[in-house]
Amino acid sequence: MRIGDALHQARQQLEAAGVPDALREAELLLAACLRRERAWVLAHREKPLSGRNQRRLMHWLARRVRREPLAYITHRRWFYGIEFYVARGVLIPRPETELLVEVFLCWARGYANGGVLVDAGTGSGCVAAACLLNAPCWQGIGIDRSRRALRIAMRNRARLGLSDRWLLLQGDWLTALCPLSTDAVLANPPYILPQEWAHLEPEITHYEPKRALLLPRADPLRPYRQLIRQASVVLKPGGLLALETSPTLVEAVHTMLVQHGYREIQVQADLAGHPRVVSALRQAIG
Ligand SMILES: C[S@@+](CC[C@H](N)C(=O)[O-])C[C@H]1O[C@@H](n2cnc3c(N)ncnc32)[C@H](O)[C@@H]1O
Repeated sequence: MRIGDALHQARQQLEAAGVPDALREAELLLAACLRRERAWVLAHREKPLSGRNQRRLMHWLARRVRREPLAYITHRRWFYGIEFYVARGVLIPRPETELLVEVFLCWARGYANGGVLVDAGTGSGCVAAACLLNAPCWQGIGIDRSRRALRIAMRNRARLGLSDRWLLLQGDWLTALCPLSTDAVLANPPYILPQEWAHLEPEITHYEPKRALLLPRADPLRPYRQLIRQASVVLKPGGLLALETSPTLVEAVHTMLVQHGYREIQVQADLAGHPRVVSALRQAIG
């Protein structure tokens, strides 16, 4: 079988399974399977596939047809121009979260000597790693309550050569930090409302960790309230708090920040134009 035939077959099967953008998915699947870039696959349609690669492709294709996300199959995902290891049990990094990194890097320009940033709910560690790789004077602390997520973050920390600048802790948001003080707190907490869950793609609802995505039914704003309250204890005066959220919750998060005395509250929109990140500075004392 040649690469071109494999692509055609994969596309047909993915389309039949209702996978959106089946052609692109087939190309990416084949590229990952051959450990090549997508452009290489497109330029080598006439090349034969070895029996081993054919078997791997069939296995991966069967998983993708069952709507398992590509990133869990290939164990790789790009975020902020960096390749991360991902696996079941951790949220797959999303492009809109890159805005959180942008907000931090823009603010951190004023801190020539660096400082300490906290990535609360670190998951794969994509936010902390992208910040630390682009702000070499900074140290980081990643916190997650999920042991599985932390194991994956540890793997990324080692792969990216950040072991001496990035501490990983298991804990409930920022409680593990008190009484330590930090310069910046970044978080992408769960923000899917229970009523939104049924409308999401099967890639999300069947495979990604529900506890990383879904807000509690009884008190949906709880993660934001906890983070805002706890950050006002651990942040140094003038420190940055930046929270990713959904357009539905932006106003409520903004109001909570006002109630807790934060200043310079700003809402940034993602590339699709949706309000996505709310940032604020902790009130200076006096
Ligand atoms: C939406 S995911 C974000 C993961 C990663 N920061 C990213 O942007 O890809 C939320 C993360 O918060 C963690 N989490 C949820 N509740 C938590 C809590 N109470 N304390 C610490 N981590 C929590 C989840 O395990 C999950 O890894």
